[in-house]
Amino acid sequence: QEAVRPDAGDGIVPRLPTERTCPFDPPEELRRLRAEAPVRRMRFPTGDLGWLLTGYDEVRALLADPRVSSRRTRASHPVRELPPEAEEIVRVQPGHFIAQDAPDHTRYRRLLTGHFTVRRVRALTGRIEEIVDDHLTAMAAGTPPVDLMQAFALPLPSLVICETLGVPYAERQMFQRRAAALISTTDDVTVIRRSQREMLEYMSDLLRAKRAEPGDDLLSGLVTRSDAEGPLTDEELVNIANLLLVAGHETTANMIAMGVLTLLRHPGQLAALCDDPDLTDRAVEELLRYVTIPQHGVVRTATGDIEIGGKRILAGETIVASLPAANRDPARFADPDTLDVSRQSPAHLSFGHGVHQCLGQQLARVEMRVAFRALLQRFPTLRLAVPFEQLRMRTDSFVLGIHELPVAWDTAAAR
Ligand code: HEM
Repeated sequence: QEAVRPDAGDGIVPRLPTERTCPFDPPEELRRLRAEAPVRRMRFPTGDLGWLLTGYDEVRALLADPRVSSRRTRASHPVRELPPEAEEIVRVQPGHFIAQDAPDHTRYRRLLTGHFTVRRVRALTGRIEEIVDDHLTAMAAGTPPVDLMQAFALPLPSLVICETLGVPYAERQMFQRRAAALISTTDDVTVIRRSQREMLEYMSDLLRAKRAEPGDDLLSGLVTRSDAEGPLTDEELVNIANLLLVAGHETTANMIAMGVLTLLRHPGQLAALCDDPDLTDRAVEELLRYVTIPQHGVVRTATGDIEIGGKRILAGETIVASLPAANRDPARFADPDTLDVSRQSPAHLSFGHGVHQCLGQQLARVEMRVAFRALLQRFPTLRLAVPFEQLRMRTDSFVLGIHELPVAWDTAAAR
């Protein structure tokens, strides 16, 4: 592969920079592009010309603009040239509202908003604390080293989203692996298609069972609801359920693991947080900003001409809004490349912005707050069990993450 050149002499960014020198920091190239011009022409893997936005204000303005579409088109894939047969895969599925526009998006989102409000999520806090405690107790009873990903970071959000939706947690092996495949940036269409089909089959069976015997969970509520707009079709239900299941656990799991790793690599900040657990809420926001796991940002297509940062984006053009670059914009954050758990800064963009802003953000926040507070309290001597350089980062995914996070601690100090 040709190395990423600053530009091809014509000011056009030849492809989205993805190479990182440090796992927590956005690709170095993005910093330079942002300093030069936060709105740039960029060539997509398909050869099409579009745009790359790297500035905080510009990204926010774009995501708040009504003249953008979230519908996936073949031209919009930011890092891969998908083969022609992939068109069927990226076809917009009814109910897959993350990739839809108003009025469809609005309708689905309205059905679900009530389940993820601050109040609803607060009511779940007790149960989240219980799950966290159970897993940390099991961890303390074992012998270090353990893989924190499998022992804690992944089970917590998986179990929470399973209980919320009414998906049997015992079947997690089945959907965790397929969910990881679905958010990967692989161009192996066979793998994507197989994972998609298996998830759909699994969810269809589950929804059939709920229709026959509804429970007290979100999916049963969707299956049995009937209002002025009429019932949801099976296809809509399956796609909504899959979206929530996939979005609900992979993201938070990787953010917990990356957050812990980031703290372990910044001992001063870790000590500050251990000394003052009241900093936890701020620390969670700072880790979300600093790490920004949606590593390639979000993609939109202009539906009308839009003027941003003195540039004119034309209808039909595709735009990548780089959330990692925006979250490190010095125009918005003082000393943006420094991790500061006591930072009181403007809102970061890790949950996106505008009408598609993360539906599950309150849930993710509470999971992370409870997780960090309890983990650091019970394992004050937590440390990496392998050299940092040996960690296997997950880079071939839209969600930045880590395959395993081996940790150790002084057993006498665990609580
Ligand atoms: C949307 C990030 C956790 C469900 C989004 C978007 C981002 C994001 C950036 C916007 C996508 C876009 O604009 O195209 C994250 C991060 C998480 C997280 C960083 C954890 C740290 C969750 C959880 C759920 C969830 C726990 C559980 C239900 C969703 C859904 C959407 C979404 C359904 C689509 C919203 C829409 O299109 O209206 N998320 N998310 N996310 N997220 Fe999250």
